[in-house]
Amino acid sequence: MPDSGIFSPPRGQADTNLLQRGLRRGFLYLEAGLDKCFGAAWNPLYQLGALGFFYYWVVAVSGIYIYIFFDTGTAAAYESVEYMTEEQWYLAGVMRSLHRYASDAMVLMMLVHALREYALGHLKGPRWFTWVTGVPVLWLVVIAGISGYWLVWDQLAQYVAIATAEWLDWWAIFGDPIARNFISPAALDDRFFTLLLFVHIMVPLLLLLVLWIHLQRISHLQINPNRGLAAGTFVMLLVLSLMVPAVSHGPADLARVPVAVNLDWFYLWAYPLMDLTSEGAVWSLAGVLTIMLAVLPWLPPRVRRQPAEVSLSNCNGCGRCAADCPYSAILMRPRSDGLPFDTEAVVTPALCVSCGICAGACPTSTPFRRKSDLIPGIDLIDAPLRDLRARIELLSGELSEGPRVLLFGCEHGAALETFSGKGVAVVALPCIAALPPSFIDYVLSRGLAEGVLLTGCRKGDCYNRHGIDWTEARLAGTRDPYLRTRVPRECIEVLWAADSDRADLLESLEAFRRRLSVREKTKEPPRPKVESHV
Ligand code: HEM
Ligand code: SF4
Ligand code: SF4
Repeated sequence: MPDSGIFSPPRGQADTNLLQRGLRRGFLYLEAGLDKCFGAAWNPLYQLGALGFFYYWVVAVSGIYIYIFFDTGTAAAYESVEYMTEEQWYLAGVMRSLHRYASDAMVLMMLVHALREYALGHLKGPRWFTWVTGVPVLWLVVIAGISGYWLVWDQLAQYVAIATAEWLDWWAIFGDPIARNFISPAALDDRFFTLLLFVHIMVPLLLLLVLWIHLQRISHLQINPNRGLAAGTFVMLLVLSLMVPAVSHGPADLARVPVAVNLDWFYLWAYPLMDLTSEGAVWSLAGVLTIMLAVLPWLPPRVRRQPAEVSLSNCNGCGRCAADCPYSAILMRPRSDGLPFDTEAVVTPALCVSCGICAGACPTSTPFRRKSDLIPGIDLIDAPLRDLRARIELLSGELSEGPRVLLFGCEHGAALETFSGKGVAVVALPCIAALPPSFIDYVLSRGLAEGVLLTGCRKGDCYNRHGIDWTEARLAGTRDPYLRTRVPRECIEVLWAADSDRADLLESLEAFRRRLSVREKTKEPPRPKVESHV
């Protein structure tokens, strides 16, 4: 195969800008630190979305509980919240605090989650959908929180309510300015509280619907965080609720302007900004930020590879590609070509991120085929397996120093280009799970190298969400297609590593080559053939 650059590092991160790369670096260091403290399974940075969901449920359950005690009305609301906080501090009071702190935790998770997805470049190409549907989530979470602060009807609620009313009145689209409701206690009736309560319940329900849409284009979702992590952070929130219970300010008094209020900076940061600037300025800032966030997926640099393509005559309808695709880009449909199989794979190009995981899963992706062309049931147009086999053979022929190692890596993991040498050849893939296990068998059984080293992103950090899980399961024989048992496991090394783990990868590679060297020396020489003189 010509050295066209396909499968040669570097290919990754081409669609990210300088800011993203800087942020990514920061996240990688932070993740490495947390990995050391908690291990990958407990690392909160790998499950921010799932933790966001967990806090949503804590907010929902604690909210339902405190709703039982809550009374609507200008005087009744404040009194009922005070009753919970003071009289029933041990249960309703704790629930109120949990409701507040879990809401704050949700904002924190959401912001860090969005920042991390941006840093890792999970927003270009078909991934735009999940990103863009995350943008209204930001608004809905903040609206739900603000409407919650109104319900307490203390001085903070008064400050927030009047400032919000003035903010909305800036548009001058409401017949009577909303702020007029707060001129005197007489203008504010109990129905207004019923409306507020309705908003405070409906917005979180709408949020749930938008979150459901947010996750429509990804499969094998991690909706629930690690149980231990969830329990641990819940206990932290509980301890915080007991030690620093959420309390109200003094009751709202429309005859007086609140002078000093303690703000919840997770939700109410826009209000001081409004005081410092103007309602119009905060609208402009919010509008510009929202539009900027929403158009980010289409800003340069953009790299679009061609989607995967099905070769129907080579597809037996087994469905493995559809089961492994992390982006729900493959559907199994009734057979259309008359071949004796029930179904066939169909790729939806608009959903395909060209990760190649489907080609790695297809049972027809076997390099041992010689008589017919290597055309699997499904393949990447830009990086077909036929070229991968040719590249492996080419690189193997160039290796001049034993023990020879073929290093297969994901372009989003450690910078691979620096590992090539006389005894090591590097093959970069769009995802490590794009490598069918039969290729490892092929390399070792055909003597193309003495060892195979697999690397990808750091564990818990897979750019294509499930590449590492699927690869490990295929090697362990728990997910099709399995690596055949005849393949000597001591000739395979696996190390999941990010850019910042380059030293670990180098060390692992050298140790692996030393082991291979010993193995080569102690290997039994081939037995001489016994000649028959009969
Ligand atoms: C409370 C709010 C949010 C929750 C609970 C949430 C939840 C989730 C979950 C569970 C995932 C899937 C993780 C996985 O299994 O791989 C996810 C993915 C994602 N979310 Fe969110 N999310 C929230 C807000 C946001 C926001 C505000 C944005 C950005 C504006 C965003 C952008 C993304 C992106 C880009 C992905 C990854 C898509 C991919 O890998 O292709 N999310 N989110
Ligand atoms: S390359 Fe295959 S596995 Fe990856 S998104 Fe496209 S169809 Fe799904
Ligand atoms: S894995 Fe291959 S053979 Fe199986 S359905 Fe997908 S394309 Fe067809």
